[in-house]
Amino acid sequence: MTSIELIDAHEILDSRGNPTIEVVVVLDSGATGRAAVPSGASTGAHEAVELRDDEPARYGGKGVRRAVVNVLEVIGPALMDQDAADQAAIDELLIDLDGTPDKGRLGANAILGVSLACAHAAAAAYGLPLYRYLGGVAARTLPVPMFNILNGGKHAADSTDFQEFMVMPVGAPSWSEALRAGAEIFAALRTELHGAGHSTGQGDEGGFAPSLASNEAAIEVVLRAIERAGYHPGEDVVIALDPAVTELVDLDAPATGEGELTYRLAKEGRTLVTSELVDFWADWIDRYPILSLEDGLAEDDWLGWRMLTERVGDRCQLVGDDLFVTNPERLGRGIAEGAGNAVLIKLNQIGTLSETLDTVGLAQRNGFGAVISHRSGETEDTTIADLAVATGTGQIKSGAPSRSERVAKYNRLLRIEAELDRFATYPGRAALVTSR
Ligand code: PGA
Ligand code: ZN
Repeated sequence: MTSIELIDAHEILDSRGNPTIEVVVVLDSGATGRAAVPSGASTGAHEAVELRDDEPARYGGKGVRRAVVNVLEVIGPALMDQDAADQAAIDELLIDLDGTPDKGRLGANAILGVSLACAHAAAAAYGLPLYRYLGGVAARTLPVPMFNILNGGKHAADSTDFQEFMVMPVGAPSWSEALRAGAEIFAALRTELHGAGHSTGQGDEGGFAPSLASNEAAIEVVLRAIERAGYHPGEDVVIALDPAVTELVDLDAPATGEGELTYRLAKEGRTLVTSELVDFWADWIDRYPILSLEDGLAEDDWLGWRMLTERVGDRCQLVGDDLFVTNPERLGRGIAEGAGNAVLIKLNQIGTLSETLDTVGLAQRNGFGAVISHRSGETEDTTIADLAVATGTGQIKSGAPSRSERVAKYNRLLRIEAELDRFATYPGRAALVTSR
């Protein structure tokens, strides 16, 4: 019933208008699964490799026809008649077929598309929604959202140095009320920015991208928006940041004697070395209701991560995105060294569903938080919404409550909530690793 009969793939567009791959898997029962792969802009150096065509005359080199051909000609024939419900075996086969540590031969985009389409097809064959197929009857926890309402860094030209200013409605009683709070705060932020004469153009993840005088001005305006919408900062709604500072490392700066990196805040015309950046975050965490900080230090600044975790890890969730790249080995090092206390989960950083589930499990067994995440380049695919409920991590980030590719995930969670009815739970503040 779940044996693979056909695998198809094609090139579609993502939310930035760049090509990406979509895969369709058809089983002998006729059940079909479809998955589209997202793509990052502030990608970590340790991520699995996204295969692009590098033909400058076509989509500026960003075409994915080579990945499509790899699915059709290499992966498809090898997976014929395999059991799509045996996810671990499917993913092992994909990893072996590729044969490289970074999935660079066939492309992590090609591999992930097949891995996820198999899961969707198997769920369909069993007549189950994906969250139930992956998570079983225990999958009843809706995630607390991080709504990225102000975009900067690589996701918006001329905005803040820091990439993401997010709000988390930890005081909401349910998923739908959390979504409502996010949408109301987003609307209030538009009014605040408009009133102050700022642009309300949107960045890649749907948040506003104003040209503010400083990074701190962004925090201040977000706090005003929370209040304008009728919520109490620090109680109903807290702030989560992803400054994505791997992008801010000054590679030309001379190394300090202590092995510290130099970070450049171009907007503010100043630089900070690792220990100063740790002080900077400790100060912000003292003065503002920031309960989650992602990539507050760069992907290889293990020293800085240990310093920050030691300093504020008891009162702030410290999420490794570029640091861990959803990789069990890198996360294992973080757990062992006390670097961070939570992991960002992005399927395409590692490239298969099974490895992603392994990383989530590793985090959960070690008291680390796990935040299921979109990428800045997204499609209408809503797999991550189901993954968040299936794994019960209690946290998701999928951008602003605006733009269809972001809202598709949030709307999918509304449908899951309705389906679970009174058995759906919303963890609120308890989802944060620091409040456990
Ligand atoms: P990316 O950004 O998808 O462009 O990498 C998201 C993030 O840094 O969390
Ligand atoms: Zn990030």
